[in-house]
Amino acid sequence: MPFQLGSPALDAVPIRLWRRLITRRLKMSDTGLLSYPDPRGDLGLRQALAGYLGVSRGIACDADQIIVTAGYCDSLSLICRTLLRQGDESWFEEPGYFQARYMLEAAGVVLTPIDVDDGGINVDLGRSKAERAQMAVVTPTHQSPTGVSLTLPRRQALLEWANDNESWIVEDDYDSEYRYRGRPIPALKSLDRTGRVLYAGTFSKVLFPGLRLAYLVVPPSEVVRFGETLSRYGHGCPQLPQAALADFIRDGHFARHLKRMRALYAQRRGYLQRALQTALSDRLSVELQAGGMHLLARCVGEERDVELAERAKGAGLKVEALSTWFADDTDRAGLLLGFTNIASEEDAIRLVSELKRAFDD
Ligand SMILES: Cc1ncc(COP(=O)(O)O)c(C=O)c1O
Repeated sequence: MPFQLGSPALDAVPIRLWRRLITRRLKMSDTGLLSYPDPRGDLGLRQALAGYLGVSRGIACDADQIIVTAGYCDSLSLICRTLLRQGDESWFEEPGYFQARYMLEAAGVVLTPIDVDDGGINVDLGRSKAERAQMAVVTPTHQSPTGVSLTLPRRQALLEWANDNESWIVEDDYDSEYRYRGRPIPALKSLDRTGRVLYAGTFSKVLFPGLRLAYLVVPPSEVVRFGETLSRYGHGCPQLPQAALADFIRDGHFARHLKRMRALYAQRRGYLQRALQTALSDRLSVELQAGGMHLLARCVGEERDVELAERAKGAGLKVEALSTWFADDTDRAGLLLGFTNIASEEDAIRLVSELKRAFDD
């Protein structure tokens, strides 16, 4: 649906190339593709990922530390089974990614909402609310959903807290590849000298979500424990797409695809920003962050964002209300609008005028 969050540009998925890579693998008649997969993931893919993470995210790790999973929540589930006990406590960004919130709560983790401001999660507040928490789940590159980046002093403070308490930090780096201005920010994991950070990445944003492949980098000290969990509960991920994905990265297609998508998204983001500015500046004020795949537009008047999102939904437009991403009550009203599938300036103008009409009706 128009404005849907979190979906990559479906018209730009390199589907012909993908078909070729899959077919090439099938033609190899490798019986390894037919047997039960390694629950840690395809070794070739893990090696390719270790290379990519070193170059692109500043993360020094080897293939043994990487586990391929069926999505971010699968990575979280693995972390809970391996490192936490029922009733353990975790900091959770407020506002934050509700899918992860549901998953952690279902796993018996007690979540303490910690406010996010212009500098990302407020670490001092976290320490005062839940000093002894066993874990913190954060999105340091582009906070989900506000898009702000965690400042360097806060990154250091967060790592210091985790060291002091021997707590874990889960770094969800879901769309870090998409930054449109400034220098790329290295991952929080790249500053982790004592092995407190678990780094979670996904292919849902950089390729397509139907692939259902993601990954987790665990500290060297925890490789054996995670291996034990996997040997009991791990089913592994389908072998064929993993092997094709390894080829996609190793043959240089991934780097080229990311470069292309960065330019495309910068353009599409501009289309939407200009259309909103022209038609809806009396109602919405766009906060343009350095990266991400959606825009956050704050409500400038007294209107309730939930009400606006409902009206938009009635017109077939999938904008989301910022306030619904909070666990506690909030007066911070805004709308989240995905721009990745807006293909032209004309499309943006047409969709924003439909939105305006839905608000006015
Ligand atoms: C904040 C955040 N983290 C992670 C993910 C990735 O989830 P998955 O790997 O299940 O597609 C998403 C997808 O929407 C997300 O919004």
